[in-house]
Amino acid sequence: MSRFKYLLLFTMISFTFAMGVACDENEDGDEELPAVDCETVEVPRYSEMAEVWNNCVGCHSSMFSGSARQDAPAEFDYDSYEAALFDPVETVEVVLEGEMPPTGELSAEAKEMLNVWAQCGTPE
Ligand code: HEC
Repeated sequence: MSRFKYLLLFTMISFTFAMGVACDENEDGDEELPAVDCETVEVPRYSEMAEVWNNCVGCHSSMFSGSARQDAPAEFDYDSYEAALFDPVETVEVVLEGEMPPTGELSAEAKEMLNVWAQCGTPE
């Protein structure tokens, strides 16, 4: 009987530990974007960020279908505010990594603008 209790205790500790590790991983995932203090920075609006979006809508536009999209996934469009809200965090990640736009990285200012917008309420 006591052996069973030890086994149960061991199982519970292992489970708790595994949960803890899993949570840490999630936290690390969220921390991938550079930190922004939304109280002190000026947050740009979607409508003020042509410097960013102009570099995307050559492919990621609801106006385009088929080959005109140049293989840009259908879910990701930036030609309207509503479309740009699909996944702002993923958007920042691929831009900061330099993966998008494929034609050449955005300027440091444009990257920063996008990061602030995505993390500070994505204003229209
Ligand atoms: C020349 C065409 C083109 C331009 C310009 C372009 N993209 Fe893309 N985008 C693609 C293609 C093709 C894919 C799918 C292949 C890939 O993920 O690499 C893609 C994928 C993506 C994805 C999904 C990535 C994923 O794997 O989840 C995001 C987000 C994205 N682009 C954002 C942007 C943003 C933001 C801009 C502008 C700053 C931009 N793209 C400019 C062609 C383009």
